Amino acid sequence: VPSVSTVDSVLSKACLKRLAIADAGTSQALLKSVEDLDDAHPKQAKGRRAGRSHGDILPVTHTYLQSVAQRQQMFAEYAAKTLTWRKAFSKVDESDLSEGVVSWFKDGRLNASENCIDRHLPTHAHRTALVWETDNPDHAQKITFQQLSDNVNRLANVLKAHGVKRGDRVTIYLPMMPAIVYSMLACARIGAVHSVVFAGFSDTAVRSRIEDAESKVVITADNSIRAGKIIPLKKTLDAAIKDLPQVESVLTFSRVARDVPMQSGRDVFVEDEMAAASPVCNAESMGAEDPLFLLYTSGSTGKPKGLVHTTGGYLTYTAMTLQTVFDIHKYDSDPFGCFADCGWITGHSYVVYGPLTLGVGTLLFESTPTFPTPSRYWDVVHRHEISKFYTSPTALRTLIKAGNKHVHRHKLKRLSILGSVGEPINADAWQWYKDVVGGGKAHIADTWWQTETGGIMIAPRLQTLGKAGAAMHPLPGVVPVLLDAQGAEIQGVDVSGALALKAATPGMARTVFKDHQRYVDTYFRPHKGYYITGDGARRDKDGHIWITGRVDDVINVSGHRLGTAEVENALQTHPAVAEAAVVGFPHAIKGEGIYCFVNLKDTHKSTDAEALQNELRQIVRKEIGGFASPDVIHFALTGLPKTRSGKVMRRILRKIAAGNTEDLGDTSTLSEPQVVGDLIAKRNELL
Ligand code: PRX
Repeated sequence: VPSVSTVDSVLSKACLKRLAIADAGTSQALLKSVEDLDDAHPKQAKGRRAGRSHGDILPVTHTYLQSVAQRQQMFAEYAAKTLTWRKAFSKVDESDLSEGVVSWFKDGRLNASENCIDRHLPTHAHRTALVWETDNPDHAQKITFQQLSDNVNRLANVLKAHGVKRGDRVTIYLPMMPAIVYSMLACARIGAVHSVVFAGFSDTAVRSRIEDAESKVVITADNSIRAGKIIPLKKTLDAAIKDLPQVESVLTFSRVARDVPMQSGRDVFVEDEMAAASPVCNAESMGAEDPLFLLYTSGSTGKPKGLVHTTGGYLTYTAMTLQTVFDIHKYDSDPFGCFADCGWITGHSYVVYGPLTLGVGTLLFESTPTFPTPSRYWDVVHRHEISKFYTSPTALRTLIKAGNKHVHRHKLKRLSILGSVGEPINADAWQWYKDVVGGGKAHIADTWWQTETGGIMIAPRLQTLGKAGAAMHPLPGVVPVLLDAQGAEIQGVDVSGALALKAATPGMARTVFKDHQRYVDTYFRPHKGYYITGDGARRDKDGHIWITGRVDDVINVSGHRLGTAEVENALQTHPAVAEAAVVGFPHAIKGEGIYCFVNLKDTHKSTDAEALQNELRQIVRKEIGGFASPDVIHFALTGLPKTRSGKVMRRILRKIAAGNTEDLGDTSTLSEPQVVGDLIAKRNELL
């Protein structure tokens, strides 16, 4: 096989087609996409290609089929060239999806914090690494790579002093402040595994994640602040770890200096200890397949899973996709503007690891899109000279609602690439993004991926015009397919099916913490040889991919992923509740809202409805967090629609919640068909 850098000129299209079919069993639609790349909008493609040299990245010089035909070589060359390895790898891809095994660069050794910090110091020590946009827009701060290094090294030494060793899990419960990046990288430095828990999770949710991760050390802040409101984070953590002796140390950063309860012998103000610690801490040499972090995410059943991401493949993939999708180059001077929270995978991959691996400054956004005014994002873009911007459709819809007058076009001239992530972007929001924010010129990248994939999998190519609401093309080396109910690949165009991946990419999660069987059963068991995403998708007549949403009982509320079972379990803890069934329904701002059908025990059927609804909302907030608060609580007084064997027919509930009651499908198996009419009537009263 010729070297990847020369391959472009060597292989003809016909040859590529043969290669792809032989090597990847690639379907008709993939072949179609290469035509698309070659033929699409030559004018724009020319402009973009001419604009920059991509000499330092391979993937964008590849056509898609080349990347698939030579995926292992492509990833290996990128990894070798882009990362700094303590020991070079000789093994590349030892994955076997039919066995649920994903493994890349296994015998290589490296350290993630060294890749994100140390190697940039000789040339870029005084370059901005973190742009911290504080809740108050007047207090923004910049942190250089040198300062990042000092803080990470000191904190790494503090962690060691608190007994943290290689392989130990450290829970991080922090808002968007530099400390969250220091904490992640300090763990990585000493080989500890971080588990960041979004600061919006409740005490109950944090507790179960700390317990599952068996963390002895937790890092938090005294308080957090969002939209001017102070939130007592440490107090929430205290409630979470009450009577939990496994937690030996709580390292507390100061965000909003206020009286905060500190338990002696357990809680310390970490900045004092960092000031006294050495700014030098040798980075551990880690295996490429050693865990870098856990991140808990919701599935359709059971408790959230602690997905395990490893070091070499993950860094390779986040850096490469940032280059491919956002056209970012090593040491680019504009900071990358990803507005996500580090509590979610987007923050891990595109606030922290992707940009910092490339030595590119990164934004830490502490506030909300509308504070103090709905111009906030655009002021940030202007002040920090952001040209590549990444946010969620929910944020866009919120801003659309606030009105175009808040978008200051003159401040947005720099913006060239506008990314969207986390949920389907509706055509209106896409068009607004393109026209009003992007002035008709910016490239819109609707990026599809998941906590499990570690990085972006499907997005429009830079060289092509996007389509409103379509994620479009697999990235280099990504092989998506559509499966039918029997697990057979659906060929051709203008078809829909379950979205699956046919080849392992380096950034994929490797296992579920302490439960490998669950990982295999969830993602690889349903159809042997494929990773099952849980999403449905459509391939249109041009071969472009549109994500149609989850096909399981996971919902996506404002881009936050939730299992409906988690909300049901929370509701069922209330003594009045006999049974509950929760479904998503279309919501103008949040994408999906939370609709709860609740059947009350006979003893509680005459309780005051409003008071009970409030109590139930409170319970969900307490068990999960404020973002999971139900939009609709519907008391189903005559019961829920069930099959004769007693199974709740969620398909019917979804239709009722959405108001799609003209065609409820087959209702012949319902044991008590009359409940459906009652539910429809009540729903129409509620909404
Ligand atoms: O349903 C898909 C939706 O978000 C899910 C993954 O959620 P999470 O693991 O929290 O990661 C979100 C950030 C990567 C997917 O299974 N999703 C994500 N991006 C898109 C999307 N749905 C449609 N279009 C997208 N661009």
